[in-house]
Amino acid sequence: MTKRDLLSVADLSPEEIRQVVGRASLLKGGEKSAALQGKSVALLFEKPSLRTRVSFDVGIKELGGHPVYLGKDEVGLGGREAISDVAQVLSRYVDAIVARVYHHQTLEELAEHASIPVINALSDVEHPCQALGDMLTVQESLGKTYGVSIAFVGDGNNVAASLALAAASLGAGCTVASPQGYELPAALLEAAGVAQVTAPEEAVAGADVVYTDVWVSMGQEDQTKERLKIFAGYQVNPSLMELAKPGAIFMHPLPAHHGEEVSSGMLEHPASVVFDQAENRLHAQKAALETILEGRGSG
Ligand code: CP
Ligand code: NVA
Repeated sequence: MTKRDLLSVADLSPEEIRQVVGRASLLKGGEKSAALQGKSVALLFEKPSLRTRVSFDVGIKELGGHPVYLGKDEVGLGGREAISDVAQVLSRYVDAIVARVYHHQTLEELAEHASIPVINALSDVEHPCQALGDMLTVQESLGKTYGVSIAFVGDGNNVAASLALAAASLGAGCTVASPQGYELPAALLEAAGVAQVTAPEEAVAGADVVYTDVWVSMGQEDQTKERLKIFAGYQVNPSLMELAKPGAIFMHPLPAHHGEEVSSGMLEHPASVVFDQAENRLHAQKAALETILEGRGSG
């Protein structure tokens, strides 16, 4: 049987994304699943994490599986041991690899050499598991995803890329407002049919969802000073929210930097669904694990 990887939102068909969101909603409602009974999953993390690590750990256990966490210092991916060797060794012990890496290429190399599925738990290019949880959150909060207009304000980063691809798959419109030089890659804009603008107000006007993320992602710490200057006009705060549609929601993948991309108190704004969003990572990832590991025997 050919293995499935989930490195990009684009690795799932629009129909599969719809199914994952629907299934996640049922799992959230209390439906039980033993899809990972007798299976082990390696959680290979080069970067820190709260939500992704805990939600995968708990989610795998809830599906009857066994998570094995491996931090940066334990494995030395590409340092102590070649990525291709790590991929082949893990393939002999576990049934899937969930990996958070600095360079997307590391995931591609893991996927190429592993005989088991590799799931992107965040790279510099995409964060597909975040986008799946986000689509569940939009569905729950607004009752639909089709036709919803999403405004992403800030860096055209990994979270923005996966959000744009997932939105396009489900028929939601997406406008991204970024400073010049920090836009989403042109190929992705075209693939996802995303509108890229410069002014936050232009993206947010009449939007159903206002979404932002940190200005300095993990791995970009050496650019902090310049980024804080460049993104200064891109803060999501109550006055920017006023421009959105009445009843619009505010989303953020977290962790948030209060006083930077969000004004302090924004996470507690009446429009904020950020903690539902964090919870939904758990349900969406369980549904994604079911899909990716579907039909793969434990032998
Ligand atoms: N949103 C998200 O991926 O959070 P962590 O970095 O804490 O996993
Ligand atoms: N863009 C952020 C997301 C964290 C969940 C980062 O890559 O650090």
